Amino acid sequence: MNKVGLVGWRGMVGSVLMDRMQTEGDFSKINAHFFTTSQSGELGPNFAGEAKPLLDATDVSALSKMDIIISCQGGDYTKSVYPTLRETGWQGYWIDAASALRMDNDSIIVLDPVNKDVIEQGLEQGVKTFVGGNCTVSLMLIALGGLFEQDLIEWVSPMTYQAASGAGARNMKELITQMGEIHGSVVQHLSNPSSAILEIDKLVANKIKSDDLPKDQFGVPLAGSLIPWIDVPMPSGQSKEEWKAQVEANKILGSSCSPIPIDGLCIRIGAMRCHSQALTIKLRDDISVERIEEILEGHNEWVKVIPNERDVSAEELTPVNVTGTLSVPIGRIRKLTMGPKYISAFTVGDQLLWGAAEPLRRMLRIITG
Ligand code: HSE
Repeated sequence: MNKVGLVGWRGMVGSVLMDRMQTEGDFSKINAHFFTTSQSGELGPNFAGEAKPLLDATDVSALSKMDIIISCQGGDYTKSVYPTLRETGWQGYWIDAASALRMDNDSIIVLDPVNKDVIEQGLEQGVKTFVGGNCTVSLMLIALGGLFEQDLIEWVSPMTYQAASGAGARNMKELITQMGEIHGSVVQHLSNPSSAILEIDKLVANKIKSDDLPKDQFGVPLAGSLIPWIDVPMPSGQSKEEWKAQVEANKILGSSCSPIPIDGLCIRIGAMRCHSQALTIKLRDDISVERIEEILEGHNEWVKVIPNERDVSAEELTPVNVTGTLSVPIGRIRKLTMGPKYISAFTVGDQLLWGAAEPLRRMLRIITG
């Protein structure tokens, strides 16, 4: 059995990955070794068999004994360890959740329901580095896989509604704390049926704007508001999150030489762990909505077309409905008034599952069989 080193398995993405690996029985296929950046020598977990002492994640010699390494430790760790490890001549497979190696020429971005062919070709050619994609990109491609596969998309503009989890565990806690403090500031007024809503609204606005609302993580209030910028600025005027859409999607699809334009705004909203995206799509042909729905639904087992109807959309096409599941619903599909080749769509996905952990464990299974 392959020796698999797991790094960053206790963080948020790592924990979701461990959970999925247990559910799918992945540990029975591998000889798991748990690494740590801070607690080497302490006893590791027992969910992959008998607990063993944790290994030092900065010990290149220990890492180089692994056949496969999966890292959810983050980009700084990858940048500090990966080049040194490769310089030793290590020929193992490196599977990474962080973005650091994503755009390297000798890495493949993994999303096997969409690019199994690219992955298999890479394996045959000796590629050893496989990286999970940006969460919004992976979720958009699971949703739109059918249309991309049949080359029916001329361009897409995704406008995103991204959850707090994409920014990290501490940010999720800060969002909940902000919500609680805002509620706490008007709780007595809410229980009084005669209290005036404009007075409550004023108190809420004052609370959200006040210096004592906790905002160390996001820098600004998120609860009761939104943040129209994710990640650092790029020279193009895009945020880095927005820049990733086109470059990563086309790398996944194997179309970087003649890229499909994919560009829109990325917005942080007060959802917990599901990213949503409103898509404006220009098709290459005038295709009926029924045919579009058939193509989307037929592409993979996780995408689910929701009819463009009010009640079912409000019930099913939401972060609350999708959270903790691998389902990627897509709905609000209709022709736009711009013309017969222009359609709208709205999709939701769990950014910790298909957006982060799931493509990694599936890549591990592709290698280990
Ligand atoms: N960058 C994403 C976000 C999460 O901030 O929501 C990681 O893909």
